[in-house]
Amino acid sequence: MTGQSINRQSKRVLVFGASGTIGQAVVRALAQGGYEGVGVMRRSADNEALAAELDRDGCAVHFADVTDRPAIAEAFARARPEAVISCLASRSGAPRDADRIDFQANLDVLDEAEAAGVRQFVLLSAICVQKPRLAFQHAKLRFERRLQVSGLTWSIVRPTAFFKSLSGQVERVKAGKPFLLFGDGELTRCKPISDADLARFIVGCIDDPARHRCILPIGGPGPAISPREQGAMLFELAGKAPRFRSMTPGLFRLIAALLSPFAPISDWMAEKREYMRIAHYYATQSMLVWDVEASEYSEDATPEFGRDTLQEHYRYLLDSHAKPEA
Ligand SMILES: NC(=O)c1ccc[n+]([C@@H]2O[C@H](COP(=O)([O-])OP(=O)(O)OC[C@H]3O[C@@H](n4cnc5c(N)ncnc54)[C@H](OP(=O)(O)O)[C@@H]3O)[C@@H](O)[C@H]2O)c1
Repeated sequence: MTGQSINRQSKRVLVFGASGTIGQAVVRALAQGGYEGVGVMRRSADNEALAAELDRDGCAVHFADVTDRPAIAEAFARARPEAVISCLASRSGAPRDADRIDFQANLDVLDEAEAAGVRQFVLLSAICVQKPRLAFQHAKLRFERRLQVSGLTWSIVRPTAFFKSLSGQVERVKAGKPFLLFGDGELTRCKPISDADLARFIVGCIDDPARHRCILPIGGPGPAISPREQGAMLFELAGKAPRFRSMTPGLFRLIAALLSPFAPISDWMAEKREYMRIAHYYATQSMLVWDVEASEYSEDATPEFGRDTLQEHYRYLLDSHAKPEA
């Protein structure tokens, strides 16, 4: 384990998925909040560089692979945490990977947490599991249900869209290309939340009883925004005349249908079909709370948290030479 000296007064929190976008932010937010955060990540060249960076910022790291159950047990034995935060997520969303990480790895972490006498578990999930159609959503939901019947104090955080997911076209706009839209660009809306604001919300779950044993949908500062509005904002900040090009999301559905006959006989085809289904889902579903009675997404019912705005983030990306995260 690398990192900060041990302060016995503060609560020790083990963070799984600490190398991910939100996991990193959570490890930093724990340090800022006076907790003893220990980030768990698998060993790789990138993660070793990240661990050194976190170490310089006073955050501790433990290397363990979450697909290796004894390694998870060792992480608990060494850190002896009082609470766990899981920001683990399949990087691909492919069915097998989702089952292995979003469900099984989280379950192994939960089982080892219980065995180690840990009393609290905060899970980073996703708002889209409220309308589950995709393999990774079902895997997340299966784990959410297991967590809720565990003996631990749990909080399930279901955020809307992250800034990185809405920044993929910054380079296109900088290069003078049109902003790509599905349909008229008004098919979906979301309340984007920054990594730092979401991390503060997640860490806030530890000592706020109002967030215990709760499913917590959460977005950033409103109002909700559509893809067309995101594009318009980008062009305005870049000082360029808006240019849009529209595509039909039906294309994804068509390709998925064409791949379907091959999915039962080819894992590769099954994965490609799932990627098309994922693309169609995000092109057509809002990342807002689903109002079951009204049978529509509700901006008003989607809670807001934090201060950072997408506009500031776009301005930063346009002004700096920083490339948006994939
Ligand atoms: N993107 C959005 O707009 C959005 C919105 C709402 C909710 N969410 C949800 O938020 C969650 C976290 O998102 P994120 O962007 O922070 O995720 P991310 O950057 O992809 O991080 C995933 C984490 O899981 C780890 N991981 C994945 N596969 C692994 C494996 N096979 N073995 C060991 N570790 C593995 C990664 O480790 P490595 O670094 O070693 O790969 C990384 O630490 C996801 O559940 C996502 O569905 C996302």
